[in-house]
Amino acid sequence: MKFKLLKKHKKDSNKWLSRHINDEFVLKSKKEGFRSRSSYKLIQINNKFDFLNSSKNILDLGCAPGGWLQVSKKFSSVETKILGIDKLDIEAIPGVQFYKGDIFEEEVVNYIQVFFRTKIDLIMSDMSPNSTGNKRVDHLRIFSLVERVVNISTKLLQKDGFIVIKIFQGGMYGDLMNNMKGSLKNIKNFKPKASRKESPEMYLIAQKK
Ligand SMILES: C[S@@+](CC[C@H](N)C(=O)[O-])C[C@H]1O[C@@H](n2cnc3c(N)ncnc32)[C@H](O)[C@@H]1O
Repeated sequence: MKFKLLKKHKKDSNKWLSRHINDEFVLKSKKEGFRSRSSYKLIQINNKFDFLNSSKNILDLGCAPGGWLQVSKKFSSVETKILGIDKLDIEAIPGVQFYKGDIFEEEVVNYIQVFFRTKIDLIMSDMSPNSTGNKRVDHLRIFSLVERVVNISTKLLQKDGFIVIKIFQGGMYGDLMNNMKGSLKNIKNFKPKASRKESPEMYLIAQKK
């Protein structure tokens, strides 16, 4: 039984590896010097909603390894202030500030406020919690992560400023909308081409009221 499970696990990870190696966006990111295939998700979201060019302050919550930070640097103006937060370390990116911490810690929110000294034009989150294997627990953890990002944005985002958050299709959607309608407007959903079809992830783009 154990042997069968191990064999299945090996087969699944070989399948993942071969899909990853041949993936269009993995190859493109290697060629173009981006740290993640996820970089192309942000490029495609920005192509549609066009927020990077006009943002003078950008906050990326859950930024490691730094693909979205590289894209932000590339597509915003030279004087734009960019800050990335993550529990994990990243390799430095010139012109971008990084702070290591968990977004649930108040200390992190204090750091963000001191760094920008003004309201923020764009807050992004590509975060998802590690899966526990328990559907209900995973659902609650995703929900509380998105809720935390929305709360931080309500406090720190500029009027008309943009928010881009990874969300997951499924039961959480109605509750999320109720949570957001009070503080956000022009709420749209978008699944960029670089987001794998089989993944339930999509992105919510909205502006602060
Ligand atoms: C999918 S990765 C982000 C990839 C990134 N957009 C890029 O292009 O390189 C999600 C990140 O969120 C971070 N994360 C998850 N929960 C977090 C939390 N509570 N506080 C800070 N970072 C968190 C993880 O450590 C992980 O590095």
